[in-house]
This record gives sequence, C-alpha cells and structure tokens, in this order.
Amino acid sequence: MVNFFDKSKNLDQKKKIAELSVAIVEDGMTIGLGSGSTMAYFVEAIAKRMKNEKLTVRFVPASKFIEKKAIEYHLNMISIDEIEEIDIAFDGADWIIGKEILIKGGGGSLFREKKILLNAKNICILADQRKYIDSLSECIIPIEIIPFGYTKTLQSIEKIGGTCFIRKNKDEENFVTDNFNYILDTKFSGIYNWKAIHEELKSIQGVVDTGVFYGMEFNFIS
Ligand code: 5RP
Repeated sequence: MVNFFDKSKNLDQKKKIAELSVAIVEDGMTIGLGSGSTMAYFVEAIAKRMKNEKLTVRFVPASKFIEKKAIEYHLNMISIDEIEEIDIAFDGADWIIGKEILIKGGGGSLFREKKILLNAKNICILADQRKYIDSLSECIIPIEIIPFGYTKTLQSIEKIGGTCFIRKNKDEENFVTDNFNYILDTKFSGIYNWKAIHEELKSIQGVVDTGVFYGMEFNFIS
C-alpha cells in the first residue's frame, strides 16, 4: 500500500495561505472550491469574510468532502451544471513542477477538481512550500479507474511502465471516489514526459482521468 501523503503536515502554513487567498474574492462572484485540507481552511476563512462584509458569493464544490465543509459553514452552493462559468477556482495540489504541471488526487477528487479548474476563468493554487519539486520522476500519479475489470486496466497500465497500487481506505477496502470509481496510485520511475504519459493513460479503456493537470494557467499563492 502507498502512503500517499501525510495531510497533517504544514497545517499552520496551509491555514495562513488560505486566509491570504480569500482577499481575492469579490462580491457577486461564482467561486470553484477544490478539495483537501488547505481548501477546508479556505472555507473557514471565506465564511468569516462573508459574514463580516456581507458578501454574496456562490460556490461550486468539487468533492463531497468540501461540500460537507461548506454546508457546515452555511455557504451558498450551486452545481457546476447550473452555471455558465466559474470566476475563480481555488484548489490545493500535491506536487507542483515548473509552475506548469500539477499532480493532484491525493484526496481522490481529481476528476471533479479538473472539471472545476477547466471551467474557471482564473485558477488560484494554494500550495505550501513542500509542494514545489524539481522532478516528477519519483512522484505517485493517482489514476481514477472504473471498478469493472479494474485488474485488467491495472495490467494495461503496468504494460506501459507503471507500478500500480490500488488505493485502500482505513478498513483496507478499495477506496471509492465520489464518482464510485477506484484510484490506482502509480509510479513511473525514470519517465519525464508526463503530458505524454497522461495522454497514453487516457487512451487505456477503463481509465477515467489522471492526476496530471496541465494546459491551464495556474496562479500560485504560497
Ligand atoms: C485532492 C487534491 C488536493 O488538492 C491535494 O491533495 C492537496 O491537499 P492538501 O491541501 O490537503 O495538502 O488534489 O484530490
């Protein structure tokens, strides 16, 4: 089993970054909410600002986790299917390389996060310092896959050089995403063209999406 990420590290820094970020939000905006522990702090901070300044803002949540948090803080939410466009999407990241590629999906929400970011006019990535790395060669790429025939999908990914670990929950059962799919945490040692790997993975039947995010303009808050 892969110990993908320790979410409990750098919490003070994550909280500070989230508190800084909410200053960007303007009255009347539609805001995309990514997922993860940094975004949970963002929800707390924006709820406070909205209460103090009486702002009217709508939120489009990317995961059940962040939706639950937003409900707890009484944020006004709307589905991505009911809006034209998102003004700004805020999200975290697991790894950032060259300010051009993000690796996401440590929390298992990669498909929905990508959908939110791709439909946003502006993207703000909230990332503490340890997220910036020089090379992705030792990174784990989360891949969301359809449960039916998942062993066959895994074998197809191994054929192109990936070493796959099916993600487990705390009860050692297969982790299930908000889309009722599985996640394969996958290593591709020594392969540096992540865009090509992403494209190749996407062509494998059973793969929904990968945690490689690129081709978008990311603004970083650290
Ligand atoms: C979830 C994600 C998160 O954005 C990523 O895991 C960062 O999380 P955190 O803010 O807890 O470090 O991609 O799928």
